[in-house]
Amino acid sequence: MKMCSLNLTSFTLIIFIALFLWSSSFESCSARESKQYNNLRQREHRAPSMLRKNEKGDLHGRKLSRFVGYAYSRTPEETTMTSSATFNVLEYGAKGDGNTDDTKAFVAAWAAACKVEGSAMVVPSGSVFLVGPVSFSGPDCQPNIIFQLDGKIIAPTSSAAWRSGLLQWIEFSKLQGITVTGKGIVDGQGSVWWNDSPSYNQRDDSVSNELRGNMPSTKPTAMRFYGSSSVTVTGITIQNSQQTHLKFDDCNNVQVFDFTASSPGDSPNTDGIHLQNSQAVTISGSTLACGDDCVSIQAGCSNVYIHDVNCGPGHGISIGGLGKDNNKACVSNITVRDVTMHDTMTGVRIKTWQGGSGSVQQVMFSNIQVKDVKTPIVIDQYYCDGGSCQNETSAVQVSDINYIGIRGTYTQQPVHFACSDSLPCTGVSLTTIELEPMGYAQPPFCWEAFGELKTATVPPVTCLQTGAPSKAKVHTNSDSC
Ligand SMILES: *[C@@H]1O[C@H](CO)[C@@H](O)[C@H](O)[C@H]1NC(C)=O
Ligand SMILES: *[C@@H]1O[C@H](CO)[C@@H](O)[C@H](O)[C@H]1NC(C)=O
Repeated sequence: MKMCSLNLTSFTLIIFIALFLWSSSFESCSARESKQYNNLRQREHRAPSMLRKNEKGDLHGRKLSRFVGYAYSRTPEETTMTSSATFNVLEYGAKGDGNTDDTKAFVAAWAAACKVEGSAMVVPSGSVFLVGPVSFSGPDCQPNIIFQLDGKIIAPTSSAAWRSGLLQWIEFSKLQGITVTGKGIVDGQGSVWWNDSPSYNQRDDSVSNELRGNMPSTKPTAMRFYGSSSVTVTGITIQNSQQTHLKFDDCNNVQVFDFTASSPGDSPNTDGIHLQNSQAVTISGSTLACGDDCVSIQAGCSNVYIHDVNCGPGHGISIGGLGKDNNKACVSNITVRDVTMHDTMTGVRIKTWQGGSGSVQQVMFSNIQVKDVKTPIVIDQYYCDGGSCQNETSAVQVSDINYIGIRGTYTQQPVHFACSDSLPCTGVSLTTIELEPMGYAQPPFCWEAFGELKTATVPPVTCLQTGAPSKAKVHTNSDSC
């Protein structure tokens, strides 16, 4: 009797295993149709880097472990979910020799990956891929595609490869769930684009000297995400960008962590990360060294959280410039905390053009450590980047701006609040400001800035006016956000 029940159990188990094997072979058949069905070597190649990231157990571990479980786990329940296939660019004809144009192979690999939910397009390590302007566009793609980038992608340096007026080099657009991950490098080889800037100090490198001066006047962003939701960028480095390194435009639910942007401090307009019209954005654990703003937060952004970021060289972390050409700009709920900055032009800055409308509100800059920063704390409502600007009465309204724990050294001026005559800044609060000059320095400056000193500050910021501006002064902002 005992033996009988044991046999029954084994029998059930065998049926179960047989069913499982049958179902999984069925799945792999359909996946194999696209020839690039993940061979074991690729899997083994990829798994360690994913797992290594996951072991960190940081805030994002959960998110990554979902990917690990989805694509790599061998437990039966999860393996049956493996609709995910890998699409290696080498299997689509990419040479990876750094000279051959691999754009077509990338486009073909993407076209295949695009059809499979949770698939991975693989750019393997050990190769250098020359890729021209390319769009990984997905209104018709399946969700949750992983762009596994472990190799190096370089941009062409010949002007023939670029259309004039092109806004980006590598674009991901209209995707639902897109993850760019890996330890790979994206190199814009930007020096051929920077030469026209008088501030850029020409190096003696052969690339720029050979080809100077004939690139289109519009410089492309290196990697841009447009109109996408649930976007993750992690692990990768973008360097020597033609213009902005990484841009999110019209995106929702964006996570950037363990990311590196790296360009010389005098490379023109090379923002680290540029946010435009995007909501629910977290940027953390990243190192941003560039020639312009480390992070630039533009019109239409809200619920942005930036923490544990190292910035410099560069121009600091900036909201704006907003309201250029009489535009309306709405920015709210921005938190920047636990950031270190060194050798930057400004630290934390809000800049608006005269003549704009809308508002910046609910901003928190907390625990910002600065070292040799020209001007750590800036609000500039007279921003005028080049050219000459007329005085205008309308302005983007700036209110509820909180600075807590801004410490370190500056080289020019600790605090600079230049607010609008017609629409003064309100609710500016300073708590625990400890800034030491390096050599000669100017005292804090305030113009039409209202708020509160919550603690004594070093140096004293006596120019901040307490309370609120008189009613007569505050024009109502007719089209508020
Ligand atoms: C502000 O943004 C954070 C994300 O940075 C979000 O968690 C929070 O709910 C937002 N607050 C409001 C009032 O929308
Ligand atoms: C704008 O106003 C400032 C201060 O009132 C003044 O010094 C400056 O000359 C004005 N600029 C123009 C272009 O009118």
